[in-house]
Amino acid sequence: MKIRASVPAKVILFGEHFVVYNKRALATALNLRLSVEVSGRGKDKSGYHLYIENIPSFGFQMELAEGKAQPFINYEGASSAIAYVRGAIEYLESKYGIEGGVEMRIKSDIPLSAGLGSSAATSVATIAALRRYFGVDSDSGEPTPKLEEIREDAHHVEKAIQGNASSVDTAISTYGGYVMIENGEVKRLNLPAIDLIIGTIGCIPLGVSVERISELSLKTKKLVEAVKTRREAFKSVFEHIFNASDELTKEAILALEQRDFYRLGSLMNINHGLLDAIGVVPRRLSELVKLSQELGAPGAKVTGAGGLDELGGAGSVMALPPPGDSNGAIKIKTAMALTGALAMVLKTNAKGLIVESV
Ligand code: MEV
Repeated sequence: MKIRASVPAKVILFGEHFVVYNKRALATALNLRLSVEVSGRGKDKSGYHLYIENIPSFGFQMELAEGKAQPFINYEGASSAIAYVRGAIEYLESKYGIEGGVEMRIKSDIPLSAGLGSSAATSVATIAALRRYFGVDSDSGEPTPKLEEIREDAHHVEKAIQGNASSVDTAISTYGGYVMIENGEVKRLNLPAIDLIIGTIGCIPLGVSVERISELSLKTKKLVEAVKTRREAFKSVFEHIFNASDELTKEAILALEQRDFYRLGSLMNINHGLLDAIGVVPRRLSELVKLSQELGAPGAKVTGAGGLDELGGAGSVMALPPPGDSNGAIKIKTAMALTGALAMVLKTNAKGLIVESV
């Protein structure tokens, strides 16, 4: 028997960070997927044997004068992916008494440590595949059983590893589509699919020390803590910023329903300004946002946890394609790629968790 669970990448359209303080956030699933396959190991083998295939590497950098290319594959990110697999296994063993003897194969198109939900995707897909394999979920009836329980299990794992984590990432990996988080509650929304240009900085400049790079896998935790410290120092100012973000999310849902891309874009630009105000926008991501705006995107912003200059500015931005310009998205994507970013034109509203026997 072989079970495959696959889940989408996520992008937070509005309200990241503020959602940790119970303000509204809107997120959607992208058409990039991660899958986990679980099969037996043969009679005499116990435990879990893990293969990780084709997780996108983060490219390389070189000093032309030295002529020596230095590959940078995000090993730290990969070890964080393993932490989520291990966390999921330990949780399932203690909750449902499952007991190894399986091969697990993870394949992913989702870049790591980039704000595109690779950690939540790893947790949700691992939990869903193991639950089905060990009979916690039956394979008859619904194609994606007990979504609510799977999401809660995955959120539990994420909190154990990351500390303070909202439900947004695990909700999108599980349900797909669009999700709004309001007062910590998950609501699934029916909104139209749109194109987004995503730019990811993953290539770390040579000047950044190895010790710093090893902190990359804990980037979200670090950024969430940094926002908390700043909020404590400027409490009354931050209250207004947080409330403004809450309003932005509400307005954005209306703009998206009405397909008013100019209004939606302006709201993204404001949201980006608020993220800058709370200190999560590093120079390289800021440049990608400005570049997109200059090339006609009606809106662009950092998405996900953001980044830190001392961690090489790793993270992601999203931009809305210029309405009515069929080459606009490609122009922005190409310009992002020329700065060294991994750039993609992707679709929102992708399908959530799929579990199947293969
Ligand atoms: C990370 O993808 C999003 C944050 O809002 C953290 C969270 O919601 O847990 C920064």
